[in-house]
Amino acid sequence: MADALYDQRLAADALDLVARAARSYVDALPGLPVHDRAGDHLLDQLDGALPEDGSGTLDAVDQLLTIGTRAATHSSGPRFFHFVVGGSTPAAQAGDWVTSLLDQVAGLWAASRFATRAETVVLRWLKDLFGLPASYGGVLTPSATFANLTGLACARYWWASQHGVDVTVDGLAGLPRMPVLASGYVHPSARKALQILGCGRDTIQVHARDDAGRVDLAAMDRALAGIDGPAVLIGTAGEVNTGDFDPIADLADLAERHGAWLHVDGAFGLFAAVSPRTAHLVAGVERADSVAADGHKWLNVPYESGFAFVREPELLSRAFGAWNARYLEAEGDAEINYNSLGPESSRRARALPIWATLRAYGRQGYRAMVERHHDLARRLGRLVDQAPDLELLAPVPLCVVCFRYRPPGVPEAQLDELNQRLGAALLADGRVFVGTTVYRGMTALRPAIVNWRTTEADIDLLVSVVREVGASLRP
Ligand SMILES: Cc1ncc(COP(=O)(O)O)c(C=O)c1O
Repeated sequence: MADALYDQRLAADALDLVARAARSYVDALPGLPVHDRAGDHLLDQLDGALPEDGSGTLDAVDQLLTIGTRAATHSSGPRFFHFVVGGSTPAAQAGDWVTSLLDQVAGLWAASRFATRAETVVLRWLKDLFGLPASYGGVLTPSATFANLTGLACARYWWASQHGVDVTVDGLAGLPRMPVLASGYVHPSARKALQILGCGRDTIQVHARDDAGRVDLAAMDRALAGIDGPAVLIGTAGEVNTGDFDPIADLADLAERHGAWLHVDGAFGLFAAVSPRTAHLVAGVERADSVAADGHKWLNVPYESGFAFVREPELLSRAFGAWNARYLEAEGDAEINYNSLGPESSRRARALPIWATLRAYGRQGYRAMVERHHDLARRLGRLVDQAPDLELLAPVPLCVVCFRYRPPGVPEAQLDELNQRLGAALLADGRVFVGTTVYRGMTALRPAIVNWRTTEADIDLLVSVVREVGASLRP
């Protein structure tokens, strides 16, 4: 042992080291490029053989900080627009440190009353924030993928029980294929959840009326009428390419009429409910049977953070409980074992950063943030529209702006290749992070604005960097 592992003082000294580095890192973050390739050579210092004798507590933590603060992607800074990646509010980030400090086992009530109570409280607050009925059950998950898994596992339990089978006990053998219907907006993570559940990733019946993937309600209605037995609908609140929404209320009507289950994937789009300005986009979500969303996107809580809500709370324990391990049983209604309500067993107290950020900023703080990001997205949409070499490809309903570089004189046939090169060049440049997607068959950029640090100046810089790098690549 290179130093006294069991020396109490080193535990606090190591945390001090992190706190000191945090001050300069966080202060510098708004001015840092998203990625600085000059730090890449430090990655080699992570490598090497397993140490026989360690270098000691403070040395190891110091090395990690030195490498990490330079080689990491500064994705919690204001100009990471790739994918849909939120930052961390100051309260959430500190709350996350508290999670590590206290190191609670959050799945079992008997292991931490504190973590259990915090989870119950934040689930209640989140339902309130999103306008979901207080009677819904819920559980915190590591991500929206896990939240989709949770909601769809409940759907699968419900569906199998309509066929007289307890799928938790007996599995899927002997059952027909579970019919799952969606628009073209369905996210790959819902497919992944179905794949994990043994329902098949590619069994979703997609009913789309155009190449953007917008739902064909009439076709879905006809398909549901032709299905013998119950079915599952997946609605997407916030599609990744453009931020558009399935008409959730219409899907809820269809589900009601055909006795189907409605699962809504609102990974980031559920946050539209937080502002009266955008709440119409997600109207009807309060009629869903299950709802999935992320904390590490628009709640601006550090990774990993997600949540699932289910209309019929008991289905969570039916789908995930029944461990057959007496020592894990809960003792009463208030003494909840959250590990029997979701896919994880041992789990960290991921309620704490959520509690801290909701306590710190409240409903109005989040409303203001959603509205500011909506304003910033519309500003970006306007700037794109006004630029002679950029083309807006879709309306801007919420926080995603889909566009491409289209300088005059470049033939259509060359635009995909040009935009692919542009996406790669932007990531290599590192001043702003925005990658490509394929939208309606066209290679496009689709920045998402969901970070509390992002300002108008960051949006303006995004446009000027895209145009500058684009011009340098023109054929
Ligand atoms: C609509 C939607 N669902 C699910 C996910 C998956 O989220 P996560 O990576 O948190 O699992 C995303 C990610 O962007 C998404 O946009």
